[in-house]
Amino acid sequence: MTYHNAPVRTDALILAAGKGTRMPSPRPKVLQTLLGETMLSLVTAALAKVPGTGRILTLTGNEAAMVEAEAARTAARLGREACCIRQERQLGTGHALMTAMPHLEGDGCVLVVNGDTPLITPEVLTSFLEKAAGADVAFLSVELDDPASYGRVVRKEGRVHAIVEAKDFDPALYGPREEAREVNTGIYLFSLPAVRRLLPSLSCENAGGEYYITDLVALGLQAGMDVRGIRAEGAGCEAAALLGVNTPAELAVAEEILTSRRTGELLALGVILHSPSLVRISPFSRVERGAEIFGPCEIYGDSVIEGGALIRSHGVIRDARIEGGVEVKEFCHIEGAEVKQGALIGPWARLRPQTLVEEGAHVGNFVELKKTRLGKGSKANHLTYLGDAEVGGGVNFGAGTITCNYDGTHKFRTLIGEDCFIGSNTSLVAPVSIGDNALVGAGSVIVEDVPAGKLALGRGRQVIKERKK
Ligand code: UD1
Ligand code: CA
Repeated sequence: MTYHNAPVRTDALILAAGKGTRMPSPRPKVLQTLLGETMLSLVTAALAKVPGTGRILTLTGNEAAMVEAEAARTAARLGREACCIRQERQLGTGHALMTAMPHLEGDGCVLVVNGDTPLITPEVLTSFLEKAAGADVAFLSVELDDPASYGRVVRKEGRVHAIVEAKDFDPALYGPREEAREVNTGIYLFSLPAVRRLLPSLSCENAGGEYYITDLVALGLQAGMDVRGIRAEGAGCEAAALLGVNTPAELAVAEEILTSRRTGELLALGVILHSPSLVRISPFSRVERGAEIFGPCEIYGDSVIEGGALIRSHGVIRDARIEGGVEVKEFCHIEGAEVKQGALIGPWARLRPQTLVEEGAHVGNFVELKKTRLGKGSKANHLTYLGDAEVGGGVNFGAGTITCNYDGTHKFRTLIGEDCFIGSNTSLVAPVSIGDNALVGAGSVIVEDVPAGKLALGRGRQVIKERKK
């Protein structure tokens, strides 16, 4: 007897309501990060790439508002709609599926994935779905040398018999513990009519006192259904890549695997990486063929590094766009900024959000730019702060130029035209504008607009007197 009808599409359900008691952190476990991305976003991105996936539903409960905000942010990044379901009390993974059922209509299937499986790949999920097609209940398993706390797959004469949680494993019933090496990965495909029939029989009479999703395996077999335990094999199926991340140690191992996967992909694409094990690049960031990056270096979020860009070591780049021909020297911090062709940044420069550095401009050591456009070929090479500023091309800033953009209550803009020269140690008290070709003498405090082509001096005059004897 089979309860499976050909599905129109397969909705996916991410179980993300648990607390993660083995991860001592104020953040819920699915919001722990690898390469700057939450486990939830990594799982969601993998599901989004599986052909035929319909909606991606996220089950939330613990710190629900935080998890739902991350689900919404991730959906927006992937161009999808977020859809969250609350499990008010977390009574186990089986109860999680029960909670989601009213949102899963029709006779199709649901692909269920534990939210703490951040290394799952679209290829592994796709191959699992192919092998699980037509089953009433199917799950993905993997062999482990030490099955630890994972659910054991019990087979009899090669056929699946049950999944038994570690806490409930009785060697008298299931044979020696050390021989039970096949474990459940927490990835399942269920036919909806089958689970509708089985869920009322789920009980919480077990060592954990929880409703286990894994009990659907034995219940399905008792009901004469098509139940399949599918062993993972091939690329991306290393045990550590498929199993849940529950502890800080498992998170560290998973992050290392993701790092080497990511650098492997980029090397294969033709990105030049020096000390690749020390280069950490988010899977959401795009690095093009012909970019050159020196480790240690971190590139996070939705960054884009174009071919021909040179990123030297010890930098952190987040949600930034670096064009070809740009050199970012050592120890720079770039966030939410755009750097155009041929610009030179650093060493020790800081570009903050909404900054645009135009073609060939230079931003040197101990220079900070915030919400600022630095025009073509302009240079701020030393010890300078430009905030809320609009700067034309060909401008030169002497060391120690400061835009005084904040009066303690409001922020004001500084406008600087083309080809200006701003002398060292100048304070530009905003709102203020400097016309094209103007010159500001060193040490000035500029509080009034400077017309184009003029020289402005705003400093005490030097006096020379006789020394007292
Ligand atoms: C689970 C499986 C185990 C498998 C392992 C693989 C069960 C009973 N056991 O164990 O067989 O080997 O995953 O990693 O499922 N969650 C909810 N609501 C709840 C409880 C949990 O949404 O009420 C979520 C958690 O947030 C987590 C996922 O379900 O993302 C799995 O829960 P977890 O407690 O980590 O299960 P394991 O003990 O690791
Ligand atoms: Ca887990």
